[in-house]
Amino acid sequence: MKIIMGADHAGYELKEAVKQHLKEKGHEVVDLGTDGKESVDYPDYAQKVSHEVLKEHAMGVLCCGTGIGMSLTANRIRGIRAAVCHSDYTAKVAREHNNANIICLGGRTIPPELAIHMVDIFFSTDFSPEERHHRRVDKIEATKCC
Ligand code: RB5
Repeated sequence: MKIIMGADHAGYELKEAVKQHLKEKGHEVVDLGTDGKESVDYPDYAQKVSHEVLKEHAMGVLCCGTGIGMSLTANRIRGIRAAVCHSDYTAKVAREHNNANIICLGGRTIPPELAIHMVDIFFSTDFSPEERHHRRVDKIEATKCC
């Protein structure tokens, strides 16, 4: 699977840990930065990763302090469904129910072991075939900005 990754300074270390794991598992990983702990603005990375996910028909991982700023930014881009996950269950249903294409993780809120476990669940779970989930995700995509 092709996975596009990005982080700000607060998510940098988590990104590196998750990246190493995903590479070891054989995924094709594209890292769009940031490349260190110097302070940067998370929206810049959320935007870059989101556009690349859409262009490459790929999936994404975004890490910041909480995952929240990344998800708020990414979800402004049509076609992106970016989910902040904090447990096995949220990682699973973000794919099964919401067809999320980006998982957002908090470098200051979750340990790397949990993040690694969640990305394994996220990237091995398919969108449910059940009609109600497709109907609901279609309604997300049809939502007009106002
Ligand atoms: C950076 O200090 C922090 O605000 C950012 O990483 C993130 O948590 C925002 O949602």
